[in-house]
Amino acid sequence: MEYEIYDTAPETLPTEAIRMRSVASIHRRFGNADLAGWTIANLGLASGERVIDIGCGVGHITVPLARAVAPDGHAKGIDNETDYAAAWDALDREGLPVSFDLWRWEAPWPWPNGSYDAAVSNFTLTIMPDLDLAVKEIRRILHPNGRLLVTGSAPDDQAEFMQMHWELVGEHPTAEMAARGRDMTAEVLPLLDDIFGPGKRVEFANDLSFPRPQDVAEFYATGKLYGLLATDNRTRDDLLDLIFHAAEAHIAKHGTYVVKRRLLGGLYIKKP
Ligand SMILES: C[S@@+](CC[C@H](N)C(=O)[O-])C[C@H]1O[C@@H](n2cnc3c(N)ncnc32)[C@H](O)[C@@H]1O
Repeated sequence: MEYEIYDTAPETLPTEAIRMRSVASIHRRFGNADLAGWTIANLGLASGERVIDIGCGVGHITVPLARAVAPDGHAKGIDNETDYAAAWDALDREGLPVSFDLWRWEAPWPWPNGSYDAAVSNFTLTIMPDLDLAVKEIRRILHPNGRLLVTGSAPDDQAEFMQMHWELVGEHPTAEMAARGRDMTAEVLPLLDDIFGPGKRVEFANDLSFPRPQDVAEFYATGKLYGLLATDNRTRDDLLDLIFHAAEAHIAKHGTYVVKRRLLGGLYIKKP
């Protein structure tokens, strides 16, 4: 069989590198432009504002944020992953008011009080080691009336696809994997509600339809590599073959393969 597009990931990558590539492609799979536009609209970002992207990953959202606040505003992306520095350099950000800092959440937050008009944190607050401290620091660096948009995957995000993956590989998430990260609705948003005052719940849905089995395999190869974490002993091609055949059977029966993408979060305003 033929897979038309592969990620650049080689056959065997260290687990951490696989995770990073998967993060890199989260937004592409949500539909880059839509998610960035949705973020900008929810934050009500305007030209001239200062915005910070907390846990920015490869910076896919940070650059559109910079476009929204250009020419006199500024967008900053922060992340502790040194490998992303090369990705930041490679971004098309010519002439845009954007910068990136390597920074660890555990370290003291270096930004002054009230230095940002808006903050966004996508798929990140769920894994901050000290969430309480982080939320207080985000609040501190926001200007009075500053806005914060926090998002994460909804519990049913890609649920059927993940189920197919686990069934195919004959493995299921370990307790350690299941316990990784906090629950958005049960833990993260309630803490934000406490510290900022009740926020507005937001949702973003973008179902992906794949008419051909190779499209599903490509999705798996480029956008959903978390499953490979637990299956390091299998080769990438074996897994892609399994996914391809399962998708082929599904499409023969249902005509198309649909992967639900669901994101949820909260929008907060710092009361003066
Ligand atoms: C799930 S990713 C989200 C990336 C990006 N916001 C996106 O939506 O694609 C979480 C990010 O948090 C970063 N991160 C993890 N631990 C960190 C730490 N201790 N300090 C700073 N950033 C960290 C990771 O490198 C990763 O880029």
